[in-house]
Amino acid sequence: MSAPEERYSDALETAARHARQWLESQETRLVGPRVSATDLAADFGGPLPREGMPAAEVVEYLATKAEPGLMAMPSGRFFGWVIGGTLPAALAADWLVSAWDQNAGLRFATPATAAIEEAAGTWLLELLGLPEGSDVGFATGATMANFTGLAAARWRLMADAGWDLDGDGLSGAPRIRCFVGQERHDTIDLGLRYLGLGRPTVVPADRQGRINPRELDRALASAVEQASAAGSGPAPLLVCLQAGNLHSGAFDPFTEAIAIAIAKAHGAWVHVDGAFGLWAAAVPELAALTAGLQGADSWGTDAHKTLNVPYDCGIAVVRDAQALRAAMGLHTSYLIQDADGAADPFESVPELSRRARGVPVWAALKSLGRDGVAAQVRGLVLHARQLAEQLSALEGVEVLNDVDYTQVSLAFGDDATTRAVTARIIADGRVWMSGSRWRDRDILRISVSNRSTDDADVAVAVAAVRDAVAAVRG
Ligand SMILES: Cc1ncc(COP(=O)(O)O)c(C=O)c1O
Repeated sequence: MSAPEERYSDALETAARHARQWLESQETRLVGPRVSATDLAADFGGPLPREGMPAAEVVEYLATKAEPGLMAMPSGRFFGWVIGGTLPAALAADWLVSAWDQNAGLRFATPATAAIEEAAGTWLLELLGLPEGSDVGFATGATMANFTGLAAARWRLMADAGWDLDGDGLSGAPRIRCFVGQERHDTIDLGLRYLGLGRPTVVPADRQGRINPRELDRALASAVEQASAAGSGPAPLLVCLQAGNLHSGAFDPFTEAIAIAIAKAHGAWVHVDGAFGLWAAAVPELAALTAGLQGADSWGTDAHKTLNVPYDCGIAVVRDAQALRAAMGLHTSYLIQDADGAADPFESVPELSRRARGVPVWAALKSLGRDGVAAQVRGLVLHARQLAEQLSALEGVEVLNDVDYTQVSLAFGDDATTRAVTARIIADGRVWMSGSRWRDRDILRISVSNRSTDDADVAVAVAAVRDAVAAVRG
């Protein structure tokens, strides 16, 4: 048996070689996988072998067998969902995070990762113009980042209503009334569900999916009236806004909506789901999109999406650090605190044990700098606009949204034609775009979220759509 160091180096070198091949193949390969999960079942399944295999051989087998089933998500021609990409510094930092193998929950035990994540958090607040002193937690993705912000909201709203949530739970507690825009991401409902807050009141949105402030005003007024008629004391209110609509990329009117929420109830908590849109705040000429967003109480985002660090990396930012730590923290004798008594990283996120996922964020920010982040986001918007402009010039192609950010939604006539064009594009494989349904129509969604998308990728995408439309229309 070889020494452990040799086994590591053989396996790591094999992994590095395959990783390089995979990344280098992105420029030329077709985007979609060539086989299904069912096709791959035999390669990865079957009875658990009795005897093991040397590490480097395991990695060789894994990389070779997985390759046909991989989606080229790092490709500049991948436009599905809102995925993102990976910056070189962030990817390499992520490898180090795995090699360092730190359980990043405790400052005392893992000071290096704690210091790096704290620095990344401070940089993020500065970059995005969020309130200094807010607490920053690194969760798995935007769903859990939003959940984290909403958990802090629940704790604070209950405490302000004089309810001991930690002691008495939700049973018999004052009802928190939650308000969401009609086009919020469904995972906001999921977060509310995890927290036992039930189904939110849905506030109508405009044609781009932005919450309608007048309707929000009306809905909040009605909740306040109902609570006062029931004599149940001031209604705890939670308003969820959105920076970046999945279909249109639109941003809610934060200044107006937040002013309404505050006027309706002292202590209303406003959360912003900025899964991919929060990063617009780093770009001076996009300031109008995010104006007023800084007045909220909590924000959730996903660094994989627009910043381009490896999965997983959601980020929760909460102005009221005490509420966040009360919602997520834990105090027990075996978790030794740092001598200076500073809060530990585990107190800001749902997990106790976790990888140091803030380290790739630090590396991304260090490698890009403030100007580089702005240039990266600007590039995404530029290429989304190029796509919209060139695609709308094609016959039979309708761009349905105002392309102010990174999303483009298209239709090709009736629903059946749109679905057929979408299927054709995916089968063709030069680019990958996903279908969806928006404003009662089947659509083709394009999300430009990967920094590697360039003018040539835009040209390939336009050609792929043109050819698919021609083939479907015969
Ligand atoms: C606006 C918005 N919120 C939340 C999410 C969920 O993010 P995640 O998949 O990182 O949990 C997404 C995903 O695209 C999103 O676009």
